[in-house]
Amino acid sequence: MDNRLFFPATERNRESIREVLSRILPTRGHILEIGSGSGEHGVIFQKCFPEINWQSSDPELIHRKSISAWIDHEELNLKMPQPLDIDVEKIPWKIPSELLLSIQGIISINMIHIASWNCTKSLFNESGKLLKNGQFLMLYGPFKIGNKHISQSNELFDGSLKMQNKSWGVRDLGEVGDEATNHGFIEEELIRMPANNFSVIYRKVSL
Ligand SMILES: C[S@@+](CC[C@H](N)C(=O)[O-])C[C@H]1O[C@@H](n2cnc3c(N)ncnc32)[C@H](O)[C@@H]1O
Repeated sequence: MDNRLFFPATERNRESIREVLSRILPTRGHILEIGSGSGEHGVIFQKCFPEINWQSSDPELIHRKSISAWIDHEELNLKMPQPLDIDVEKIPWKIPSELLLSIQGIISINMIHIASWNCTKSLFNESGKLLKNGQFLMLYGPFKIGNKHISQSNELFDGSLKMQNKSWGVRDLGEVGDEATNHGFIEEELIRMPANNFSVIYRKVSL
């Protein structure tokens, strides 16, 4: 049985995200991805950056099965670990000791707007504990700037998210930045991405 899921957005955004990653990834070590979804990003980035170990995670079993199926399909079993069951709100995250020792950065793509605000807080809280000074947390997705949407399509998207779940919604970059500051990160770089998205690189600066 083929458990692979196909998320169309990953085909549209993977190249622009890969370009950002090519500038910030270390030469080796583990990158932890939170809310990996289908796993398509994980296998692509593992192949693009063969010296690192891409550690996917997702709280949904169907997504973890898809990630494992993508790892099998791309014959990456020797390089890429099996996905972890991480729900950002269930703290502390259960992290294997090998990952604890070699983690270099954390990335979460299109997750914080499809989860409660408390998930953003937990993401920074736990990332702040796991990462050392100089390491990064990268977020990708739509953001409001100065509490305003940057496009009509983002505003419509925000409305549709809130119809699905009142606790979801496009986050304000300033409010996310406050959480970052509270947990020892600075916003190092804000990169405008296609389709009214951003990549934001937060750098850990204090313990
Ligand atoms: C829109 S999907 C994005 C998936 C993938 N990152 C991508 O870009 O295709 C949002 C993902 O966040 C995950 N997610 C939702 N709530 C979460 C939580 N509390 N902790 C971690 N992941 C969560 C979902 O299971 C889902 O896989």
